[in-house]
Amino acid sequence: MANLVVYPDRHSFIDGTADFIVDLVAQAIAERGRFTIALSGGGTPRPIYARLATAGYRDRIDWSKVRIFFGDERCVSPDDALAGSNYRMAREVLLDHVALPPDHIHRIQGEIDPVQAAMIYEQELQALFRTSTFPTFDLICLGLGDNGHTASLFPGTAALREQMRWVVPQYVEVMATWRVTFTAPLINAARHSAFLVEGAGKAEVLWRVLEGPYQPDVLPAQLIQPVNGQLHWLVDAAAAAKVRPL
Ligand code: 6PG
Repeated sequence: MANLVVYPDRHSFIDGTADFIVDLVAQAIAERGRFTIALSGGGTPRPIYARLATAGYRDRIDWSKVRIFFGDERCVSPDDALAGSNYRMAREVLLDHVALPPDHIHRIQGEIDPVQAAMIYEQELQALFRTSTFPTFDLICLGLGDNGHTASLFPGTAALREQMRWVVPQYVEVMATWRVTFTAPLINAARHSAFLVEGAGKAEVLWRVLEGPYQPDVLPAQLIQPVNGQLHWLVDAAAAAKVRPL
């Protein structure tokens, strides 16, 4: 069952999504003593992560019990300010500003060979979650590209068909770049998966994904159908302009 929340404007989208995350942190720690979250990259989540680092939000989270992961990464160095590392973005606006134990931040090594980076990350997850089945993240944050991709699951790529691996490398022709990404079955094992979608530029693709025909090779975001977890669409009114209420 999906849950669609439409915030009236950008400001309430940012605050509402930050509140959503704070609530899930408290619930997970109360129930299981920890909170595991996979962050998404790109531009949409940046102000949300920054909000979580402000006094009114960071003080509501017990960071000592939070573990940070990444749902995908661009294969670039985190030291390159202009390359667009998802880890670098999160570190700049959030991770450097809260009391997270350093070993609770699990980044994908974008600076090394993508095949190696995917294998190393998958091994790190297996060691941490100690399960041979897909691990259950408390929350996986997801973006929605205007071409329907999410994480680094891009249209027409082999990664869309991966059913065994947790993390795979993927060369993205349309961007002439390598990515490392969670696979759809890993994302679908999450307790909560939340698409964060904002802006009029996403209205068409959000409508196609939610109300158009099921065509996941064209719209990979449609692959995200949690097995036991909950799917959340947290969007602003501009992005939801073409969407009927669920
Ligand atoms: C990335 C993201 C990607 C992103 C979408 C939306 O590494 O780029 O993980 O999946 O979420 O491309 O990006 P925007 O929020 O910038 O539109």
